[in-house]
Amino acid sequence: MSLDLEAKKVLLRKIPHGLFICGVRENEDVNGFTASWVTQGSFDPPLVVMGVRADGSSHAIIQRTRKFSLNVLREDQKDLAAVFFKPQKGLGGRFESAPYTFGPCGLPILENSIGAIECELVGEVEKGDHTVFVAEVKSARLIEDCNSLILSSTGWSYGG
Ligand SMILES: Cc1cc2nc3c(=O)[nH]c(=O)nc-3n(C[C@H](O)[C@H](O)[C@H](O)COP(=O)(O)O)c2cc1C
Repeated sequence: MSLDLEAKKVLLRKIPHGLFICGVRENEDVNGFTASWVTQGSFDPPLVVMGVRADGSSHAIIQRTRKFSLNVLREDQKDLAAVFFKPQKGLGGRFESAPYTFGPCGLPILENSIGAIECELVGEVEKGDHTVFVAEVKSARLIEDCNSLILSSTGWSYGG
């Protein structure tokens, strides 16, 4: 049986996604990147699932530190999402465009977004070009409850 690659691409791109800034921290180093492959995985305990590029700089930091934050972007923050997927001068350089503080778990939390969760890794599947991380939500800060940025509204695609 051969896989119909065009059908696979079209169908996988129908999976709805939000847009988030994932934050990581290792000692004095911080970094952040735009993530869309994010979903909830369990109510109790509250788990989230995120696919992370194995060759990205944040991947190894998540594996070493076993934690990350997810900042939920407002629908008017497309430009910020673009900053966080473009190349940066040095690790963490993207945060020059976005003031942040550290949450209770010590992870970068954007000051300006809908809010953020901090998560601790409970599992991972390392099989493809992205690793699937499963993590428990340990803190949640709501800044402003409003409409979130949705991948389908941006004209971008990530998937297929
Ligand atoms: C629309 C869009 C969605 C993205 N979603 C993800 C994602 O879910 N996971 C991921 O690892 N990278 C995703 N990326 C790519 C990263 O944002 C990008 O590779 C970034 O440079 C990684 O940063 P880092 O190497 O500093 O960790 C996405 C890119 C775009 C344009």
